[in-house]
Amino acid sequence: MDGGTRRRGAKRDELPERVTLKKEIGLLSACTIIIGNIIGSGIFISPKGVLEHSGSVGLALVVWVLGGGIAALGSMCYAELGVTIPKSGGDYSYVTEIFGGLIGFLLLWSAVLIMYPTTLAVIALTFSNYILQPVFPDCVPPYMATRMLSTTCVLFLTWVNCFSVRLATRIQDIFTVGKLMALGLIIVVGLVQIFRGQYEGLTPQVAFEFSKTPSVGQIALAFLQASFAFSGWNFLNYVTEEVVEPQRNLPRAIYISIPLVTFVYTLTNIAYFSSMSPEELLSSNAVAVVSISLVLLLGMFSTIMPISVALSTFGGINGYLFTSSRLCFSGAREGHLPSLLAMIHCKSCTPIPALLVCCTATIVIMCIGETHNLINYVSFINYLSYGVTIAGLLYYRWKKPALYRPIKVNLMVPTCYLLFWALLLGFSLHSEPVVCGVGLVIMLTGVPVYFLGVHWSEKPKCIYDFIEWATYLGQRIFFVVFPQIDPIVAAPPAGWSEKASSARKASGTF
Ligand code: TRP
Repeated sequence: MDGGTRRRGAKRDELPERVTLKKEIGLLSACTIIIGNIIGSGIFISPKGVLEHSGSVGLALVVWVLGGGIAALGSMCYAELGVTIPKSGGDYSYVTEIFGGLIGFLLLWSAVLIMYPTTLAVIALTFSNYILQPVFPDCVPPYMATRMLSTTCVLFLTWVNCFSVRLATRIQDIFTVGKLMALGLIIVVGLVQIFRGQYEGLTPQVAFEFSKTPSVGQIALAFLQASFAFSGWNFLNYVTEEVVEPQRNLPRAIYISIPLVTFVYTLTNIAYFSSMSPEELLSSNAVAVVSISLVLLLGMFSTIMPISVALSTFGGINGYLFTSSRLCFSGAREGHLPSLLAMIHCKSCTPIPALLVCCTATIVIMCIGETHNLINYVSFINYLSYGVTIAGLLYYRWKKPALYRPIKVNLMVPTCYLLFWALLLGFSLHSEPVVCGVGLVIMLTGVPVYFLGVHWSEKPKCIYDFIEWATYLGQRIFFVVFPQIDPIVAAPPAGWSEKASSARKASGTF
């Protein structure tokens, strides 16, 4: 459609055959997207929180293993949803399809406004803390320095993602291997310690010695902390339309990656516990000192350590930008965000406006505040949206029982997930009502926005004129058009074609 019209006027060899998001994600890249998104900063900053809330080394390890198990249950449900509703946009697209626009919009709103930029900011700041640590060995790196480095890194990776999908996925592949090697190094050091006989702390009698007996609420908080590190298992679903043979590769990638990450996380924690006492871990400012202790331990690896952690977070930022921009893109395609965000560059076929929105939101959040306080809000909202989506899976089975589902998980899987989810959310609300309440309020601020921005269809003409003018201007600046619809994606969503043609009318040339 739009791309085709545009192409005729331009030199043939300059533009691709079809202006559309390409299917460039094979099984390997699919695995690296999942692994690369899950493993970021969490494994370096959450162990402290998990240990603090669970009260003993043994229980902390149980929380890590169970956390992986829960992520596995959730991701099995997402595999079913991903192949049944083969649209990019992940949970947002499924919830919109199943429960309708408002709930979908609330999910999108909280994700785009707070969840994703905040998480990106946390990962970017962890990145710069590690990079700058060797430069400031005796103190915490200065505020300005970390902010500037994080901003540069986010800007650079946004540029890469705007420039080429292939380059972005290559970076993802390389850095995922890098971060697995970094964690492998920590694990090897841990195993060496254990073989040297340093495992008293891990024997069951000592490991389950509680410094204080944790309440159920505390255990729920420990899970919430671990869930930050495990979050991101749903990210491949954001890019379903770009996966080669999604029906085969999406579930496979999920089944390979989640167990692998759980295994790596658990071993990494065992390595931490074999290398330092629980008191040392608790007294550490997790980010900096965990690595310092390991630096002491690693000796000759001392400079490799912060660098490899920085690599892990760098790859995390890349993957996160890649996937969250696709969420913005899907939201705009459904008509829930300005249509400019659903456009891709004519030559590189990348969603440049969506990428720029993600990048800007992250930089703003990074400069506004101490993002570490925001981790709890983020985890809560994130958990909430996973649960709503999986409840949607059950509802959809009931609503459309005859729909063809290439994968159909056992009903016990979503049920177990939801039971656990309800318990966890209930207890977190009970123990941290303010944090969770604020999370809910942020989500609900989306209700008036939805009614004003999306639901109100008879807006004054001047508003439409302004939107059309802005869209046209944006198209000219970024050289973007609506992508051609991929015939594999069943039906174009409601509002797609009207939006496309109104933008065409507005722009004249597009
Ligand atoms: N798991 C990531 C990390 O450890 C963080 C993360 C990725 C995340 N995706 C998320 C956190 C979604 C909250 C929501 O760094």
